[in-house]
Amino acid sequence: MAVISVPQAFNEDELYVDLRSMFRHSLFLKCEGFNFAGSIKLKAAAEMVESAERDGLLTPGSILIESSSGNLGVALSIIAASKGYRFLCVTDSRCNLSTRRLMEALGSQVHIVAEPNPVGGLLGARLDYVTAMCASDERYVWLNQYTNDGNWRAHSLRTAPAIARHFPQLDVLFVGAGTTGTLMGCARFFRSWHRPVRIVAVDAVGSVTFGCPPSRRMIPGLGASVRPPMLDESFIDDVVHVEEADTIRACHRLARRGFLFGGSTGTVVSGAMSWLARHDAHDLTAVAIAPDLGERYLDTVYQTNWLEDLYGQDVVTAMQAGPRSPTSRTRATDADSRSLVP
Ligand SMILES: Cc1ncc(COP(=O)(O)O)c(C=O)c1O
Repeated sequence: MAVISVPQAFNEDELYVDLRSMFRHSLFLKCEGFNFAGSIKLKAAAEMVESAERDGLLTPGSILIESSSGNLGVALSIIAASKGYRFLCVTDSRCNLSTRRLMEALGSQVHIVAEPNPVGGLLGARLDYVTAMCASDERYVWLNQYTNDGNWRAHSLRTAPAIARHFPQLDVLFVGAGTTGTLMGCARFFRSWHRPVRIVAVDAVGSVTFGCPPSRRMIPGLGASVRPPMLDESFIDDVVHVEEADTIRACHRLARRGFLFGGSTGTVVSGAMSWLARHDAHDLTAVAIAPDLGERYLDTVYQTNWLEDLYGQDVVTAMQAGPRSPTSRTRATDADSRSLVP
């Protein structure tokens, strides 16, 4: 039994889905969506807020402000409500309506940026707005998840040790890259672990994080239009890029087995499966991180019209045909994979 008095005190850290029966390879999917924020961002938000309080940066009367495509916004909304801070979330038009409503229900204010910055895209425009607000009123405190050490530290202190406890023989860890907080926190922890672990970053095609050209991306959470400053590629062994159509296929395949995950989980699973297939990795112990669950994506990833408009009839038809049998799946699903180690 767990009895709590603040919402951030509860987080299910022990749950894994074994994907072997659904896909061709064994992969343990760590579920990070079972907490009051519904995503892995609760840990980063808690660590960033608590360290800002410790440093005296955040005081009663402060107003939190943050750029978020949704999940960090929800997590900060919960912590702000619990601790009595005001919170302004700056997001863009790709933020799901239900996520926005969730933040507003928790008492936060939401500002939606619609016009991309000509150089930095929508993310750049969000950051411009946050900077302007901070310059206009000194009560604003921008934790800045893109540069805040608390973001990656949360995963070094909590996410990675939780994985290490359950998988002492871990060989490879697949982590999606958004701000790269989860990726860098886990990578730093496992760098000094008792055995080498291959850290594989999974990113969306169209994200510039690992030096690829920018292109349209519609699924929030993963990817960036500006290179995340926190990323240190010397900690990363491999990168897999996944097309959004393959993300959608993986999400629907999981859903047909009763596991409704968010879009970035589809990306991570798709990228991980193609990496495992290419590396003939049947004996490896592999874990991937699922950042959230699927209910926030019912109007996008799980909605036929949205899918048809963006990805075409083929993707929808394949999904309506139901799950492919694991043995019939021979094609690698990612668009590109490159090794960062010689
Ligand atoms: C849905 C989703 N996917 C992926 C990520 C990637 O996390 P990070 O920003 O730590 O790279 C997040 C972070 O919250 C997320 O919410």
